[in-house]
Amino acid sequence: MKKDFITIADLNKKQINDILLLAADIKKRPEDFREVLKAKTLALIFEKPSNRTYVSFQVGMYQLGGNSIYLGPEHIKLGVRETIADVAKTLSRYVNAIVLRTFAHKNVVDMAQHAGVPVINGLSDLLHPCQGLTDIFTVKEKTGRYKNMTMAYIGDGNNVCHSLLHSCSKVGLNLHIATPFGYEPDPGIVKQSRIFAKDSGSIIELFTSPQKAVRGTDVIYTDVWASMGQEEEAAKRKKIFAEFQINQSLLKLAKKNVFIMHCLPAHRGDEITDGVINSKNSVVFDQAENRLHVQKAILIKLLT
Ligand code: CP
Ligand code: NVA
Repeated sequence: MKKDFITIADLNKKQINDILLLAADIKKRPEDFREVLKAKTLALIFEKPSNRTYVSFQVGMYQLGGNSIYLGPEHIKLGVRETIADVAKTLSRYVNAIVLRTFAHKNVVDMAQHAGVPVINGLSDLLHPCQGLTDIFTVKEKTGRYKNMTMAYIGDGNNVCHSLLHSCSKVGLNLHIATPFGYEPDPGIVKQSRIFAKDSGSIIELFTSPQKAVRGTDVIYTDVWASMGQEEEAAKRKKIFAEFQINQSLLKLAKKNVFIMHCLPAHRGDEITDGVINSKNSVVFDQAENRLHVQKAILIKLLT
């Protein structure tokens, strides 16, 4: 595995399987991993808000015998108080790894380039790889397989969508993506994922009709319509995305036991109704829990 975890595109199928197998093992017997990262410290640099990523990395480090330090927007001021390179070089003298949640994806790449320790992408405007790995872990946990399974992602072609493109195409899970015109995923990432899909046998299809995209699928996934940093577009997007809501009538078009996934936070009443996210089909809190197990596996792979 590379020094850093910045994109799922950097991992081959075996490396992904190894991480997910380890995550399953950690989930089953967490007590056996209590000292694996003893005396190791993780820096968490967050330029955007977070619940799951922040808490699951902190708790994960603690459960593995290490500790973590939270550095919020008021602490580091990346590129303002000092350059990313200087932050990376300094922190590398104190800590064993860095998680960075930021805006421009280039910030994560720059941090990794200058840090002597592993850098983990905790979400950038382009990608959310810890989420993407957790999502395929959750699909496997719920359905037992990837082959001949189809996920429909409905909504914005954003960071979460991009990491799903990578993770699904690497493991052979089919992915239907429905977005409004103009909100499609990055064409470069789609192209790259179609190359991965050739190898794994997964089929990637883009739609503008959510109804067509969900027909007969096994998993329906959605995310917020306006991501962090796009707050001023929220009202405009609410109108454009109105037809892309996951509600009972859309659900009826999928398989009867379709699993509902959402990376959270959810804007209930916008991209998903209360009824659907609270329904028996919804696995969103298992999905959130799995962030902890998968990230512990990532930390072990990078730090031992
Ligand atoms: N899904 C996710 O990354 O949640 P947070 O933004 O709360 O970390
Ligand atoms: N697309 C969302 C994901 C949040 C976990 C955002 O970037 O805000």
